[in-house]
Amino acid sequence: MGALIHVHSGLRWLALALLFFAIVNAILKLKSGKYEKSDKMLNLFAMVLLHIQILIGTVLSFLTGKISYAEGWMKNPQYRFFGLEHILLMVIAVTLITIGRKKAERAIDPAKKHKTILIWYVIVLVIIFLAIPWPFRTALGGSWF
Ligand code: HEM
Repeated sequence: MGALIHVHSGLRWLALALLFFAIVNAILKLKSGKYEKSDKMLNLFAMVLLHIQILIGTVLSFLTGKISYAEGWMKNPQYRFFGLEHILLMVIAVTLITIGRKKAERAIDPAKKHKTILIWYVIVLVIIFLAIPWPFRTALGGSWF
């Protein structure tokens, strides 16, 4: 359980990094007239990593002491965050990245593909950033790694 938390916690950095690189890449290649295999792979890996986080997070949900739906749970910041906000926002983010990437793959024009990735991935990055239990939100008991 402890190891799994560290995997889930550490993978946040890889997820944020991949999202960031995918966004920068979309900007840099926007007017290149090309959408290459490397673009496709970067965008795919960013999405896959988020799916992996969902899987690990789902397992953690059954093991963690940070989730409880006992009476009055909504009044407890930690229970509300992990039992509702974290899960809901992350599932929304992963749904959006999946839709956005599909739209980009379906588009024919390379510029349209990059633009689609750019818009959807920025939205996803913002949501994920907001839904991470950063250590400075002290009530949540999160850590940096
Ligand atoms: C993109 C998706 C996700 C990211 C980037 C993410 C990231 C994180 C981070 C950074 C922590 C804090 C770990 C720590 O400070 O030690 C955390 C904790 C947690 N996450 Fe996620 N998460 C994601 C999705 C999910 C989902 C979908 C679930 C549940 C279905 C989930 C369940 C949990 C639980 C239960 C904890 C608390 C673990 C504990 O400390 O006992 N996560 N998550």
